Amino acid sequence: MAANWTPTSWREHEGRQMPTYRDPAALEAAENELQNYPPLVFAGEARNLTTDLAQVVEGKGFLLQGGDCAESFAEFHPNNIRDTFRVILQMAVVLTYASKLPVVKVGRMAGQFAKPRSADFEEVGGVSLPSYRGDIINDIAFEEKGREPDPQRMVRAYSQAAATLNLLRAFSNGGYANLHQVHAWTHDFMGRSPWAKKYSEMADRIGEALSFMEACGINPETVPQIKATTFYTSHEALLLPYEQALTRQDSLTGDWYDTSAHMLWIGDRTRFEGSAHIEYLRGIGNPIGMKCGPTLEPDELLRILDTLNPSRTAGRMTLITRYGHDKIEAGLPKLVRAVKAEGHPVVWSCDPMHGNVIKAASGYKTRPFERILAEVRGFFAVHRAEGTFAGGIHAEMTGQNVTECTGGAIAITDEGLSDRYHTHCDPRLNAAQSLELAFLLAEMLNQEMADRGKREAA
Ligand code: PEP
Ligand code: CO
Repeated sequence: MAANWTPTSWREHEGRQMPTYRDPAALEAAENELQNYPPLVFAGEARNLTTDLAQVVEGKGFLLQGGDCAESFAEFHPNNIRDTFRVILQMAVVLTYASKLPVVKVGRMAGQFAKPRSADFEEVGGVSLPSYRGDIINDIAFEEKGREPDPQRMVRAYSQAAATLNLLRAFSNGGYANLHQVHAWTHDFMGRSPWAKKYSEMADRIGEALSFMEACGINPETVPQIKATTFYTSHEALLLPYEQALTRQDSLTGDWYDTSAHMLWIGDRTRFEGSAHIEYLRGIGNPIGMKCGPTLEPDELLRILDTLNPSRTAGRMTLITRYGHDKIEAGLPKLVRAVKAEGHPVVWSCDPMHGNVIKAASGYKTRPFERILAEVRGFFAVHRAEGTFAGGIHAEMTGQNVTECTGGAIAITDEGLSDRYHTHCDPRLNAAQSLELAFLLAEMLNQEMADRGKREAA
């Protein structure tokens, strides 16, 4: 257990990007309510994820983490949950098929509500109101009343997370994720994408392999991995009163876990040394992610790793790098070298989204698909050069047919962005773009596995 830590010790540290609630009694009431609610995940599940991620550290697995930038109350619908889940399944199958590595699936789902913002206030037509910080805090509508942080929103977010997780568990174990369904995960609107055809061909080959295995006596009854999958949840641990209320002591080990999700990560804006967010996360037993952007220096990173993972447990830490397509090759090597030299076991994962936001001529915030891809290529190139393993991808994506990122095979143009631009925060890859990214990523991973095979043979 971490020394001098309690679920509330973060309150003695500088906490950025959290709201000030006007009514302390209302905040306390919401916290007390949540404290009495059931945990959403169990400590043993979080430990299983650490074990799975330890495999990724060693290059024996790949991490696929994805979902909404911000979940919202308005978009809460079983079809949305199903559609994101099935694109993640599709991506995982594509990656597994190419790399022959197990893929660890982690959703930015069932709790990804709170958002850090670059400005505290938003100004429209001369009126200035507090910025929108995610549905768990305030309302996206530009109105004075709704922008006031409301602690009861935490209770509503918890209920939505619980219902979302319940459906995800049912999809994972109730037959939907059965590998025999690999064709059924395709979305109708993907028909126009050349990648849909490629996916269908791959699904045929998987079907043939399953039939062959069935003839050999390997079927969903004898090998349960065929009929079910393991799907984990994650979100940014930003709103600490919420996370604290869901922090529970594991009865088996006596250790503390944040039971709001399997994995929690610290954002790029709250990961500074001495922050309330680092203080909170160092004490929980869950696997932890940390966003690493261009302002992070190697010596600071090493000190933070010593704080968050003093026992150097493999699978505990995932470093999610988010440099920007034009900065990654110059910026990332120094972090990789320092971490490697120090011997800290980490998963290196690539977030090609947050360093590649631009404002389109139409005024929309977007991310050009070519830049996302360029950052992923840069990520693989750096790890190849440094002899480390490119272990994961972290994407903002949805199963919906939205038009938020430009480019891709079904080329979304600047002018097309306004058609279906629905995000509550950052622009997401749509289902077709996500599948395309998975295929291009699979090529890179395949190449990496082939190179590794050659090196090991030499
Ligand atoms: C995010 O992942 O939604 C996010 C805000 O990222 P970052 O902390 O890397 O900016
Ligand atoms: Co985002």
